[in-house]
Amino acid sequence: MADRGPPPMDTLRDLVALAVYAPSSHNTQPWRFRLAPPSIELRADRTRALPVNDPFDRELVISCGAALMALRVAAAAKGLSADVRLLPDTTDHDVLARVVVGRGAVEPGLADLAPHLLARRTYRKAFDPRPVTDEAMSALRSAAALEGGDLRVLDGDLRGLAGGLVDEGDHLLWNDPRWRRELAMWMHATREGDGLAVPALAAPIAQAIVRTFDMGDGVAAKDQQLLLASPALTVLATAEDDPRAWLHAGQALQRALLEGCRRGLQASYLNQPIEVPALRQRLREALDTTDHPQLLLRWGHPVEPVAPTPRRPVDAVIESAAD
Ligand SMILES: Cc1cc2nc3c(=O)[nH]c(=O)nc-3n(C[C@H](O)[C@H](O)[C@H](O)COP(=O)(O)O)c2cc1C
Repeated sequence: MADRGPPPMDTLRDLVALAVYAPSSHNTQPWRFRLAPPSIELRADRTRALPVNDPFDRELVISCGAALMALRVAAAAKGLSADVRLLPDTTDHDVLARVVVGRGAVEPGLADLAPHLLARRTYRKAFDPRPVTDEAMSALRSAAALEGGDLRVLDGDLRGLAGGLVDEGDHLLWNDPRWRRELAMWMHATREGDGLAVPALAAPIAQAIVRTFDMGDGVAAKDQQLLLASPALTVLATAEDDPRAWLHAGQALQRALLEGCRRGLQASYLNQPIEVPALRQRLREALDTTDHPQLLLRWGHPVEPVAPTPRRPVDAVIESAAD
C-alpha cells in the first residue's frame, strides 16, 4: 500500500471482510457498509430486524456496535487509524457510525486482538469447570469499561436470581407463537450464509418443530443447567438506553469477547430476562442499579472446538458511495 493518500477501496473492503465476523442476534448480520475512501459508513440494515424478539432494534444496534469494534481492531492491525463518529447524521438514523480510516495514530491495545476476530465463537455447550481467573475477569471488565460498558459479575445470590429470571423468560418467550415463528425463520441451512445454521437436511424439520411446539420447559431446564455450571456469569450494562448506548454496548461486548478469546475463553448468551421488559426491570432492581442491562453472558473455557457459523459474502454488505 502507498504510504500517502487515503487508503484505497480494497483496503477498506479488507476491513469490512473481518468486521462481518462480529456476533449478531440470531446471526442476522444486520449491517451494511458504504465505502467512500477514506470513510466507511456503518448503516443499520433494518430489513434484517427481529420485530418480535427485538421490537426497538436494541439488539440490532448492539450487533452493529460489535461490527464497529471489529472494524477498529482490523484497522489497527493494518497500522491504520480509525476516527469514529457515532450517529453522525441527524436526519438519517440508519447511519450508525462514520469511520475515517487514515494514516494517523493507531489506537493502542487493539492490534493484538485481531487474530481473535475469526477465532471467537458463541459457545452454547457446557463449559469446562475450570474457573475464570480474577485476572481474566478484570481484563474483561476493563475491556468493556474502555468502551462505556459495565460488565458486572453475578455471584452468590445473584446467580440464583438470574437463573430464576432466565427460567421465566424462557417460558414466556417460547409460549409466544410469534416469537417461535420468528426464530424458525432464521433457522436456515448452513449454506444460506446467515441465521442459526442447521444442516441442510435437518433444517425444514427443525423449523417446523420450533414453529409448532412450545419447548419452554425443555429449553428452560437446559438453560438452568448451563447457567448454574458456568464458571462466570455477567451482565453487560450501560448508563443510558438509547442507540448511542447500544453502540457502546456492542463495542464493549466485542472488545470483552476478543480479550476473553485471547485468554482461551468464549462466551454465550442468556438474554431472555432482558428481552422481556418486566423481567429486565426486575433484573435492574435485583442488581440495585440505575444502569440498563443489555446482555446476560456466561463465560468459560470451551471443552471442544465448535464450527464457525456462516457469514454472507462481503460484497453482499458493501455499497460504494457511487451506488
Ligand atoms: C446482541 C446479541 C444478542 C444475542 N442473543 C443471543 C441469545 O439470546 N441466545 C444465543 O444463543 N445467542 C445469542 N447471540 C449470539 C448469536 O446467535 C451469534 O453471535 C450468531 O449466531 C453468530 O455466531 P458466532 O457468535 O459464533 O459468530 C446474540 C448475539 C448478539 C450480538
